[in-house]
Amino acid sequence: MSPDDFTASHWYAIGRFADFPEGLSRPLRLLSQDIVAVRQGKDVKVTRADGRPCMVQARYGHVWTTLMDKPRALYDMPEFLEEGRRLVTAGAIGVLCSGLRAVENFLDMAHFPFVHTGILGIEEHPEVEKYDVSMDAERDEIWATKCCFFQPMAAATATGGQITEYKYRVPHPYSTILYKTCPIREGAWDLIGLFIQPTEEDACIAHSFVLVFDESNSDTSLLHFQQNIFLQDRMILENQVPRKLPIDPRWEMPTRADASSIAYRRWLKANGVVWGTAKLAEAA
Ligand SMILES: [Fe+2]
Repeated sequence: MSPDDFTASHWYAIGRFADFPEGLSRPLRLLSQDIVAVRQGKDVKVTRADGRPCMVQARYGHVWTTLMDKPRALYDMPEFLEEGRRLVTAGAIGVLCSGLRAVENFLDMAHFPFVHTGILGIEEHPEVEKYDVSMDAERDEIWATKCCFFQPMAAATATGGQITEYKYRVPHPYSTILYKTCPIREGAWDLIGLFIQPTEEDACIAHSFVLVFDESNSDTSLLHFQQNIFLQDRMILENQVPRKLPIDPRWEMPTRADASSIAYRRWLKANGVVWGTAKLAEAA
């Protein structure tokens, strides 16, 4: 199945610049299509299987490409221009599920105590307090705000349990960014994000990053913290059935689905997203 127009119209991260060594052709998959990426000096060139070039841009520590000749603009993250932040990328992790499922899981706080036990949550504090979800109509994106959760070790910089406040942003069907109160800078937010490269309808590669004010942890410890969390998520994601995301409202919502998950599914449906979603007939 070829991707619907909305899915096809976006830019997708395919790796970091350093992941493309000079002169080496790397065959990749994007939206069920073969593409080839090759580094030439300061540029990465991407071509389709038939040799036609794809547009490429370098942003947010990653190389992005698109299969469209006239894609919609890649969303802005002004925090990447702020002084004093550190970017740590965690590399590419393949996951056997729709990338839409990976985004939805990222939005879901209810799994923290059970999947990230002792790090992002504890079983004695499983409640998800009510939070706000809104649509930014102008930018066509979803925001969940005032999300508060008890965390025993919210970040690599944390030394004890605390109520952490979050905001979640979904500016792209396959990207999501978490804004978390910064433990060392009053009023600032640390960013944790996921750029998903959807390879097939039911398989993806997750490129994750943190963009933080942090002077005490090494890149390695920030990287390990991120990778550890995501590998715990991968185990859950690969056990979800079906591997594609059910968005049909007639399909009974999973009981753990929350407000941001409902908003995300509705937003995908309103934008005509079909590729990567499960059909009612697959419910059985
Ligand atoms: Fe998780």
